[in-house]
Amino acid sequence: MAKASRAYVCQACGAVSARWAGQCAACGEWNSIAEEAAATSGPGPLVAIRGGKGRPARFETLQAATLDAPRLPTGIAEFDRVTGGGLVPGSAVLVGGDPGIGKSTLLLQVAARLALAGAPVVYLSGEEATAQVRMRAERLGLSQAPVALGTETNLANIIATLGAGPAPALVVIDSVQTLWSEGIEAAPGTISQLRGCASALVSYAKTRGPTLILVGHVTKDGQIAGPKVIEHMVDTVLYFEGQSGHQFRILRAVKNRFGPTDEIGVFEMRHNGLQEVENPSALFLSDRDHGAPGTAVFAGMEGTRPILVEIQALVAPSTLGTPRRAVVGSDPNRLSMLIAVLEARCGVRLAGHDVYLNVAGGLRLSEPAADLAAAAALLSSVADRPAPPDTVYFGEVSLTGAIRSVGHMDQRLKEAAKLGFTRAVVPAACDRDRQTPDITLTPLTELGDLVALFGLSATD
Ligand code: TYD
Ligand code: MG
Repeated sequence: MAKASRAYVCQACGAVSARWAGQCAACGEWNSIAEEAAATSGPGPLVAIRGGKGRPARFETLQAATLDAPRLPTGIAEFDRVTGGGLVPGSAVLVGGDPGIGKSTLLLQVAARLALAGAPVVYLSGEEATAQVRMRAERLGLSQAPVALGTETNLANIIATLGAGPAPALVVIDSVQTLWSEGIEAAPGTISQLRGCASALVSYAKTRGPTLILVGHVTKDGQIAGPKVIEHMVDTVLYFEGQSGHQFRILRAVKNRFGPTDEIGVFEMRHNGLQEVENPSALFLSDRDHGAPGTAVFAGMEGTRPILVEIQALVAPSTLGTPRRAVVGSDPNRLSMLIAVLEARCGVRLAGHDVYLNVAGGLRLSEPAADLAAAAALLSSVADRPAPPDTVYFGEVSLTGAIRSVGHMDQRLKEAAKLGFTRAVVPAACDRDRQTPDITLTPLTELGDLVALFGLSATD
């Protein structure tokens, strides 16, 4: 028998070290290392190779697999869009997000919708008492939904409860960080507990067939292990995001074995729960300040859907030796690149200025097509001249200062026309063989052309 030994495990990244340290050498997190029992080892792999007893595994053919996974649509269109058309039976989904963002609300709504449609649903809340979940259900107008509600957090009890009757269609565990098992020698909330309990539940789902949804809190202080460490075990990883102070919530797939990963679902948190947002562009543009310099509207794509969003910039003289560059909702490296291109290729001096860039409404942009809109917002701020309010921008800026073409031109323009925009500043390469009747195009070949549109010259 192997002797139970101690190991020191980082609760943020899962790295194991032989002794305790204040800072994790692997991820750099402070105060995240906790003592746990090392996994009790079996006879070890060498024994197996030398002829220990193993059970031969059975191989199967590829043909037997069903091509299209059967789906359990929830009826919440924004949720179904992100999962790729509904939940897949036997799969495990992790829903991560900051505390208070609305995970429990979203999943109670999903559970109730499925239960009302006749599917057997189990909702296990380890964080809230039954009365609290009931109060929330009342607030959401879903008290009548036949959801089987429990507050169990012990893994063995959960497996015994679920195994007792016929398997439900959906099991929601809120949250995976409250689960614990006597078989794992570590405190609840530690990496060992999280991994052990999650993997037991995932194999339960795989063998018995219900969809398993695990809720995981994202934690910054490393006191409880984050959902990152179980991402590899599950089939789908969804993150629920939003900016504090904004009522918009965005559900984003970061991993999906059964669907796309670039779709987003947009919700609005209201007093009676999360409402689906059918026209996100209209919502993101709802409180636009038309006459203010430093803003430009970007016609972007999120998955298969065009979304219009306002990009705001502020360029102000800096009092610091190294000027500040701050970005919310976009990649800071792309801003640095844009500033460098504006300086080097177009002669726009930004070196002595603080530059702030913000994507309105809490959306996070990852498309390079946003470059042109970000540049327009920056130039509008530098020139102190508002961008025309009826114009959208999209296009990628290359290091040479050329404006590169981007995909889905038609969809972007149609969405802009639908929302009342009449002009679009686009890459010249996009212009050739297209006619969009309601929108006048301003094709640009290089960033210098955009600088000129804002009345700036190379010496400004
Ligand atoms: P919750 O779902 O408990 O968040 P999480 O499970 O991610 O921690 O949501 C909590 C917040 O949502 C809380 O601040 C109150 C707010 N809320 C509403 O605004 N409207 C509602 O109908 C509900 C149920 C919650
Ligand atoms: Mg919760």
